[in-house]
Amino acid sequence: MLAIIGGTGLTQLSTLEITRREVARTPYGEPSGALTFGKLAEKPVVFLARHGYGHTIPPHQVNYRANIWALKHAKVSAIVSVASVGGIRPEFGPGAMVVPNQIIDYTWGRKSTYFEGGESAVHHIDFTHPYDEPLRKRILAAAAAMGEAMYDGGVYAATQGPRLETAAEINRLERDGADLVGMTGMPEAALARELNLPYAAINVVANFAAGRGASETGIQFSSIEVVLQEAMMRVRRVLEEVCRS
Ligand code: HPA
Repeated sequence: MLAIIGGTGLTQLSTLEITRREVARTPYGEPSGALTFGKLAEKPVVFLARHGYGHTIPPHQVNYRANIWALKHAKVSAIVSVASVGGIRPEFGPGAMVVPNQIIDYTWGRKSTYFEGGESAVHHIDFTHPYDEPLRKRILAAAAAMGEAMYDGGVYAATQGPRLETAAEINRLERDGADLVGMTGMPEAALARELNLPYAAINVVANFAAGRGASETGIQFSSIEVVLQEAMMRVRRVLEEVCRS
């Protein structure tokens, strides 16, 4: 069973045939919302809205540990994360979809591990390749099958938020090698790895990052909404095909 974590612009999967909702409790507190079990393209899936179903939880307050733990205990086999991002690389303009292959983590103060010491031995996960390669390939193949353009690879910079970045910060991220910037990719990906859950992401570019593209006047929130609404329709189509594949 596949899990889908939906981000901004995807608080619901309208094409999901819902069978039940489950309020999960975990040793780390409550997930962002009830797990929504259902069928997508006839295949069982679990959906979870990262920011809550009313989109009220900001990126730095998402209980990533509870979310991933709850999905693990729902016995999911893999997690596809959908997250909106700002585009840094020129070809990653509004509406572009990217399956990133690397991460740089700039977040701070988030509860980012299940290994808190105590009785258990110290454990270091291998995170050389933060995303699961077979799952990345499965998403890319699904997009290709649906005729949806999807970029293969990109370096995702995870920033703390909830504010957007300054133009100078984006310049620094670019010098660091980042292609995309978002606020929720970490610690989510690392926690999934800690629990041995294959994890990959579909990043939807909502806007050019600060100081990029035609954003001289700053980032326009009204256009972000329009972009995401259209792009998430394409994401839903791809997700259905991922389920079929
Ligand atoms: N920066 C960080 N996160 C984002 C952005 C951005 O420009 N757009 C959507 N999520």
